[in-house]
Amino acid sequence: MRKVKLKNEKELTIRKAILYDAEKLVQYKKVIGSESDFLTFGENEIKITIEKEQQNIQAINSRKNSLLAVALLDEEIVGLIVLRSGDKVRIKHIGEMGVTVKKAYHGLGIGSFLLQFLINWAKETGIIKKINLRVRTDNENAIKMYEKFNFKNEGVISRDFYINGKFYDSLFMGLLID
Ligand SMILES: CC(C)(COP(=O)(O)OP(=O)(O)OC[C@H]1O[C@@H](n2cnc3c(N)ncnc32)[C@H](O)[C@@H]1OP(=O)(O)O)[C@@H](O)C(=O)NCCC(=O)NCCS
Repeated sequence: MRKVKLKNEKELTIRKAILYDAEKLVQYKKVIGSESDFLTFGENEIKITIEKEQQNIQAINSRKNSLLAVALLDEEIVGLIVLRSGDKVRIKHIGEMGVTVKKAYHGLGIGSFLLQFLINWAKETGIIKKINLRVRTDNENAIKMYEKFNFKNEGVISRDFYINGKFYDSLFMGLLID
């Protein structure tokens, strides 16, 4: 668990997600899906039940090389970060990450704190040696944030998203963990 002061002086808590968070996480994902077109899911696409979300939390956070963490302001989930890794010996050192912050709280440093939390955790695992992600090429704010943390552009994936009749390319980005 980590507590940090935001740019607006409020205290943010970042910690591993627990089963108790499931209900709030379902709500959170519904809101996020409706707020951003930069994600793999859109408005009304989150049909997951609280029980399924509990299974999801358990499946991710019971693994040594995967993490689901939440950012909380008071009791409200305002951001989340996830790293999913497999357990095959040859690829257990890499994980694919995703990060979101509720729109009302953008620009306060929450995304950066979540990313720093994940990077610190990844180093401590001793297993994760690389974090991968995909980001729409027009998602400038997210790309700036990843570059700030030294993620490198590893190529373009064409037609990665299809939203309202239009294709979008993604950047594949990676950060080495030593
Ligand atoms: C991308 C996202 C997670 C960033 O979260 P955030 O809490 O707003 O990020 P921070 O406040 O920590 O800002 C991180 C960096 O991003 C960039 N950034 C963020 N908001 C910005 C803005 N409005 N204008 C310009 N740059 C911005 C800056 O480089 C900033 O670093 P700096 O403050 O040191 O200059 C958030 O915008 C989000 O959830 N977007 C929708 C979902 C999404 O796109 N997720 C990523 C999918 S790959």
